[in-house]
Order: sequence, then structure tokens, then C-alpha cells
Amino acid sequence: MLNIVIFGAPGSGKGTQSERIVEKYGLNHISTGEVLRGEIAAGTELGKTAQQIIDQGHLIPDELMISILAGKLDKLVDSNGVIFDGFPRTIAQAEALKAMLAERGQEVTAMIELDVPEDELMTRLLKRGQESGRADDNEETIKKRLLVYAEQTSPLKEWYKNDGKHCYINGFGELDRIFADIVAAIESRK
Ligand code: AP5
Ligand code: MG
Repeated sequence: MLNIVIFGAPGSGKGTQSERIVEKYGLNHISTGEVLRGEIAAGTELGKTAQQIIDQGHLIPDELMISILAGKLDKLVDSNGVIFDGFPRTIAQAEALKAMLAERGQEVTAMIELDVPEDELMTRLLKRGQESGRADDNEETIKKRLLVYAEQTSPLKEWYKNDGKHCYINGFGELDRIFADIVAAIESRK
């Protein structure tokens, strides 16, 4: 059973590299951002709440996000494991994930941090905003997302170091090189 947390700032390549990891290891991919965008597209009550928060670049409250994630985990059957993309984003979420996996006799195998310089993140996200039009990929919201990441999410690097799970990856450069570094990190931990 492989449980991988893919971690990094907005635009660091979590979604892009998750696709490759899923293909190689046959994992279930849980992207909390995609779950929320699905709710928005479906026009649910949750989607309406989420839309306002996402448009401002803020985080969905922990309690709500943790219950959404628990619901997704409960639905998985015959899983080789999970790649968690965009979760956890706060210490409370990391603690909840640890407890949820422990209840199932599991743990996080590795936390993969994709480190990318801020100017490159901005370039990538502005480009994506122009091409595919994700509503939160505009300059003002991106700046807010980066600030929220620095304040609320980046402390998780230390948390996962203390938990013995943290793997550093230079996320700036060629997709193939980054993926090879991720695979090497996973192989050394599994
Ligand atoms: P979420 O959807 O998770 O967005 P994010 O963290 O801001 O990250 P992105 O999806 O924008 O980037 P990514 O790291 O996946 O990079 P990607 O591969 O796409 O969350 C959205 C919102 O939902 C949050 O702001 C929050 O409000 C809410 N939310 C979600 N989870 C939550 C939680 N747990 N708690 C509370 N709230 C939550 O790549 C980006 C671009 O760069 C792409 O165009 C890609 O093609 C390109 N690219 C990728 N790699 C490279 C490379 N090596 N070189 C050049 N370009 C590259
Ligand atoms: Mg993503």
C-alpha cells in the first residue's frame, strides 16, 4: 500500500506529476481542488460555498475539508494506495490524515515536496489562466494563494520532516527529470 502526499505551492506541478505517478503505480488520485471544482460545476451547496472561498484564494475550513476527504477515502475499494494532491494544507489536516490512515492500519509512505521559485509559479499560472481559464488563475488571486501557501501550508514541510516522511524535489525544470526524481524518492521509501 502506497500513500503519497504530493506537496507544493500553487503551480508547482502537483497535478501534472500526479498523473504520471498514478500511471506508474496504479494509485487512486484524490485532488481536493478537483473535487471542489467538480462541486462548483455541479452547482451543489458545497460548490457555492467553495466557489467564493476559492475565488478569494483562501482555504476551505479544515473541518469541512477533512470530512470531504474522509468521504472520498471511504469510497475507495481495491486500492493500491492513494496520491493525495492538495491535501493536507494545514497542520490540522495533516494530523487528521495521519489519524484516518492509522484507523485503516496505514500511514503516509512519503511526502513529496515540489520546490519551485515564486516567479516561475506566477509565470506558469498566468499562462494556464490565459489558456484554460481556471477562475483562480488571475494575478490578484494567485498572489493571495501564494501568501496563504507561505503562511498556512509551508509549515507542513517541518511537520513532515519531524514525522520522517519529507522528500525534497527540485520542481523547476524538465518534466521527465522531475518525475525521475519523484520515482527515486518513492522507491527509496516503499
Ligand atoms: P488546488 O486545485 O489544489 O490548486 P493549487 O494548490 O493552487 O495548485 P494548482 O492546481 O494550481 O497547481 P499544481 O501544483 O497542481 O500544478 P499543475 O500541475 O497544475 O486548490 C485550489 C483551491 O481549492 C485552493 O486555493 C483552496 O481554496 C481550495 N482547496 C483545495 N484543497 C484544499 C485543502 N486541502 N484545504 C483547503 N482548501 C483547499 O501545474 C501548473 C501549470 O504549470 C500547468 O499549466 C502545467 O502544465 C505547468 N507545469 C507543470 N510542471 C511544469 C514544469 N516542470 N515546467 C513548466 N511548466 C510546468
Ligand atoms: Mg492541481
